[in-house]
Amino acid sequence: MQSNSPLSPASTLAQPIAHLMFEVGIVMMAILLLVTVLVCYAAIRYRRRAGAGDPPQNFGARKLEIAWTVAPLLVLIYIFTATLQAMRGTDPAIPRGRQPDLVIVGHQWWWEARYTDSHVVAANEIHVPAGKALLVQLESADVIHDWWVPQLGRKMDAIPGHPNLFWLKADSPGFYTGTCAEYCGAEHAWMRIGVVAESEPAFEQWSQHQLEAAAQLPASGDAAKGAALFRQMTCGNCHTIAGISAASLVGQSLVGPDLTHIASRRTLAAGRFQNTPENLANWLADPQAIKPGCHMPNFQFTDAQVHQLTAYLETLQ
Ligand code: CUA
Repeated sequence: MQSNSPLSPASTLAQPIAHLMFEVGIVMMAILLLVTVLVCYAAIRYRRRAGAGDPPQNFGARKLEIAWTVAPLLVLIYIFTATLQAMRGTDPAIPRGRQPDLVIVGHQWWWEARYTDSHVVAANEIHVPAGKALLVQLESADVIHDWWVPQLGRKMDAIPGHPNLFWLKADSPGFYTGTCAEYCGAEHAWMRIGVVAESEPAFEQWSQHQLEAAAQLPASGDAAKGAALFRQMTCGNCHTIAGISAASLVGQSLVGPDLTHIASRRTLAAGRFQNTPENLANWLADPQAIKPGCHMPNFQFTDAQVHQLTAYLETLQ
């Protein structure tokens, strides 16, 4: 598991935030040190001594007063300009009329990603070409969520009915993790984000693969029974499998994650567990036991049905 600290930025959009934190931290440490030294000095130098009367009482010291007014003012001006600079660096101006490359929709409790040009739809694992800044339009399907991948830049609220724009960029290939950073209900803690940054050719390849419809329906065996069950249990009302089922939309967004290539994802249920056949089977058997409150109901499948559905979903590479 690699670090996901904002202090190890992996994007030119995140560096200004880390720099600002260091700069302001140094200023604050210097002030703390100065005050501590002065307090200690005064406490020792002017401590009460036996037989001594009150020390001389002074009123007014214009030079000192000017000094302790001007010095903090300079510090504030420095922090203010450094902050403005960091804001410019982390949030570059968006050219007028620029269309978003990617629409990300926060749901209770997962993330939907729609690529504007390619029409790829993904969930929770968001692929980006390394070194290229994508303009993201952030939306919410229900309540307020908050996008935060600390190494890649700023946080941004996903507000229902109010799309927000921000730049998303990873300097080099890698897997960057983040999480929803605004309390949004029971499973807020399991609303993780994975950003997969890859080389341009790898990204194109991924996009192409995502656009391919699901493989032919399995002809026989457990997978075929699972596919039949998928239809019979109306799973397709919430989950799209391209070429097989089209989920209903609420407004512009899906009810549940697109499953066309579910088997190729690293984790499921927004980072709740590793994507293995065992974990998938446990999930299908009782989603509410694994992610209480989530919108996937317990269908009371028999063990055999769970096995068949798992076999089918595992074919969706
Ligand atoms: Cu979504 Cu917290």
